[in-house]
Amino acid sequence: MLDREKSKKKYATKRLAMLVLVLELTAAGSTIYAQKFRDLALTPPMGWNSWNKFGCDINEDIIKRMADAMVSTGMKDAGYQYIIIDDCWQGYRDSLAFIHADSVRFPHGIKALADYVHAKGLKFGLYSDAGWRTCQGRPGSRGHEFQDAKTYAGWGVDYLKYDWCYTEWLNAEGAYLTMRDALYAAGRPIVFSICEWGESKPWEWGKDIGHLWRTTGDITPYFGSVMQILDMQKGLRAYAGPGHWNDPDMLEVGNGMSVNEDRAHFSMWCMIAAPLIAGNDLSNMSRETIAILTNKEVINVDQDSLGIEGFEYASVDSVEIWFKPLTNNNWAVCFLNRSTKPRTINFSWKQHTVIDSLFNKKANFKLTTYNIRDLWARKDVGTTDKDFSANIPAHDVVMLRLSPVKK
Ligand code: GLA
Repeated sequence: MLDREKSKKKYATKRLAMLVLVLELTAAGSTIYAQKFRDLALTPPMGWNSWNKFGCDINEDIIKRMADAMVSTGMKDAGYQYIIIDDCWQGYRDSLAFIHADSVRFPHGIKALADYVHAKGLKFGLYSDAGWRTCQGRPGSRGHEFQDAKTYAGWGVDYLKYDWCYTEWLNAEGAYLTMRDALYAAGRPIVFSICEWGESKPWEWGKDIGHLWRTTGDITPYFGSVMQILDMQKGLRAYAGPGHWNDPDMLEVGNGMSVNEDRAHFSMWCMIAAPLIAGNDLSNMSRETIAILTNKEVINVDQDSLGIEGFEYASVDSVEIWFKPLTNNNWAVCFLNRSTKPRTINFSWKQHTVIDSLFNKKANFKLTTYNIRDLWARKDVGTTDKDFSANIPAHDVVMLRLSPVKK
């Protein structure tokens, strides 16, 4: 071979090697940055968040007290895991732009608090904002995403709620993508909660970015607000599943509604596989509130591993009938009385075939008989061979689990 040809060949081989290296680096780069943490939130996250009850009025003693109570009230045993500090923990950015906690409210810093929460066998969550400021005017993460994510990872954060105030001109998908990549680069698995209030349809782009996304504005502790948010979930069930959930906002159970309303609220959040993030004072709960928040049979409906949201099947005289497909061909059924008067229902199973065409599930009551379990009464109440009747108080529910009778 001529020398010239030899060196040409050598040059080509070198270029090829370079190209392969570049491709490998790009591929490695994309594994390093371009994804969210998989295998997190395979069922809807469960925990507690400071906002609904305490607003900005938080400090480290309150957070510790909530962690203690999550264990002592049986909530941890019922599946609640995350203790999440919402807005107002932030103090200032130092000359190198590192974020520090408000030293009056959190004199021992966030890391010490995360350690405290972890020592209880719980997980720790924090809040920030994609804009310049948080909704309460504290420093936001805009322009500091990678630095903040590293700080959070170093503190031991397991969950980040990322809000949307002060984001004028920002593109939501891009802003949340940046923080997703920052969290991934920081290397600590962190559940990423998109809190953009549903404004740019996060259900359409959130699946590969976060683990849950708010679908609406803020909830308030009134039955009207709870029902309004429930109505706004229509059409969104196609988008949710293991690792990526619609978030109709945190719970208001124990924050002033009647026991019936709290029960209806909790049941419906479970029927739509919502994240169950309590928002009340866990250290000061009535027996009824504890009973609602820790009803394991109802929670199991929410946490079912299929991760399919329920849907409204029918509505008669202000009573809505919801069905939710569960594992092992089970179904959850919830009769929701939205009226201010008690209602009596009578449901003839055999006259109905319930079809969930989106997820290819079917309950044919003529072909299959199901055992019926009343999840609030915690009683077995017969089978679907007989009509089901019940009285439902105003703003309350009757919630059932159906399991096929084994032949
Ligand atoms: C927004 C969010 C709320 C809460 C507040 C805090 O309104 O939607 O859930 O985090 O900000 O300021």
